[in-house]
Amino acid sequence: MLRGIFRTKDLDAILAEAGGPQFSLRRALGATNVTLLGIGAIIGAGIFTTVGTAAAGDASRPGAGPSLMLSFVITAVVCAFTALCYAELASMVPISGSAYTYSYATLGEIVAWIIGWDLIIEYAVGNVAVAISWAGYFNALLRSLGIDFPQWLATNYRTASPEVIAAAPRLFGIPIVFNLLAFGIVMLITAILVWGIKESATFNAVMVLVKIGVLLFFIIVALRHITPTELMENWRPFQPNGWAGTLAGAAVVFFAYIGFDAVSTVAEETKNPARDLPIGIIASLVICTLIYVLVSATFTGIIPYEELRRLPPEGLSESLTLALQYSAPQAAWQQLVVAIGAVVSTTAVLLVFQLGQPRIFFSMARDGLLPPAFASVHPRFRTPHVTTIITGLAVGGVAGVASIDEMVDLTNIGTLFAFVLVCLGVIVLRFKDPSRPRPFRVPLGPVLLPTLGALSCLFLMYYLPPASWWRFIGWLMLGLSVYTSYGYTHSDVGRRLGRPNRATPSLKLMAIGFLLIALGLFIIPHGLRAGEMFSEFAESIRALASSEATMNARVFCGIATILLGLGCNLLGWMLYADRNDPAN
Ligand code: ALA
Repeated sequence: MLRGIFRTKDLDAILAEAGGPQFSLRRALGATNVTLLGIGAIIGAGIFTTVGTAAAGDASRPGAGPSLMLSFVITAVVCAFTALCYAELASMVPISGSAYTYSYATLGEIVAWIIGWDLIIEYAVGNVAVAISWAGYFNALLRSLGIDFPQWLATNYRTASPEVIAAAPRLFGIPIVFNLLAFGIVMLITAILVWGIKESATFNAVMVLVKIGVLLFFIIVALRHITPTELMENWRPFQPNGWAGTLAGAAVVFFAYIGFDAVSTVAEETKNPARDLPIGIIASLVICTLIYVLVSATFTGIIPYEELRRLPPEGLSESLTLALQYSAPQAAWQQLVVAIGAVVSTTAVLLVFQLGQPRIFFSMARDGLLPPAFASVHPRFRTPHVTTIITGLAVGGVAGVASIDEMVDLTNIGTLFAFVLVCLGVIVLRFKDPSRPRPFRVPLGPVLLPTLGALSCLFLMYYLPPASWWRFIGWLMLGLSVYTSYGYTHSDVGRRLGRPNRATPSLKLMAIGFLLIALGLFIIPHGLRAGEMFSEFAESIRALASSEATMNARVFCGIATILLGLGCNLLGWMLYADRNDPAN
């Protein structure tokens, strides 16, 4: 066993490190402020964008159709279990590192690393999706104003329709399709964040009003252009693809709920965390669920399921205006208002997420798990500029070329996984440290609701397409490679345990092994399920021996790379187990 990878960080030490009384924050927030913060963090690209894909389905999943409203309720229940767990941990460990800090204290360093690495998916990849949604609505806004922005600069190669690709200029024969709008907004936000921005409660309250206002406006405009009979007609059949569609929809719209966990980070600033935090988290979830159910019911009521399935995929990133265009083509200024509302709302989410990611890097670097440069602060602006710029370039670059559905799926799987670990953390800590004061406790005992929370998150993960699973596992393997080659030997906890200062050859071999596994996982065709992958691989092996079978080159190369990686890993472990290894 690698030395002390499950070693936890002492809770008292964490609380002490966070600063003495001179650093303590002013407890000014009540339950209403916490609820508003929650709504501000939750409502964003999800409701404006994912409803299209969730209702229509795509090549890899069935659509929910009108049962989308049920999907939203199911996901809200899943989130509620986890929300209670967050409330318990946040009131007990009122530290801004959120899930990363909780897991360091409960499940040990390696799990904390995995969560920290995984949270990059929630924040950075999530923001890629929000930026693409922003670009979709901004483009719709320009269109409504009569400005014709080149489509090849407002989408990505994979979702672009054949007409857009045909119209794109070519470089050495390759069509240039790049989402410049998504890239541009991320760069602008990055510049603002490096310069420094103080997020204020007033700003948030205004944003909440804009978001709720524009969603209610959408509902009113839509309902004025349709008769109750037509509405009921469009809601039939309620589940065009049965429960499979409803649950696949629930897994997609999970994205729309992400953000309630961010509320836990204001635990130190809440007047009465025991009461206000759970009220704030649960109330924001309930209010958002109500709004989401109403919006999704309206959305699926004004545009028939069959019609929705015929829409081009690039249009789905602006679902609500698209639905209005269909049902009320003459309501031009109303479409404009919805597009403006969406642009404003998603800009606010971009700001918050782009602000959060560098702070997680910051916490990890402070613990020695990432290089010290990640914890550096700009001398003049006092902002974590290095991580802000790295995050901005990565998020903007990927947003320029990625498709929104893939990014939403990846964000969902990563966040659900973090939620599973948070739920488990509550159970572990109740048994490991039962006497620590818990201003808020998950009701009905330490096991029932957290277990339901973990299981229901796993359940939603199951309904995400295989592509997100392969990419997610690949991302975790990449993370383990970084941990074995850097974090393991540089962590503060590890230093105290007497680990070596530099990665030894056995650790390097393990790191190469994890890297190869990650590479293999990125090479294999992501549309295949595990079973299909193995039969394709077996077929490819047969093809090597006889000309009758066919070879799937990607499957063969990918799995061969994974096997090579596993071999390196095993050899690394064996060398490491040798008593003479300096890492021991
Ligand atoms: N819940 C956030 C959104 O929908 C991530 O944009």
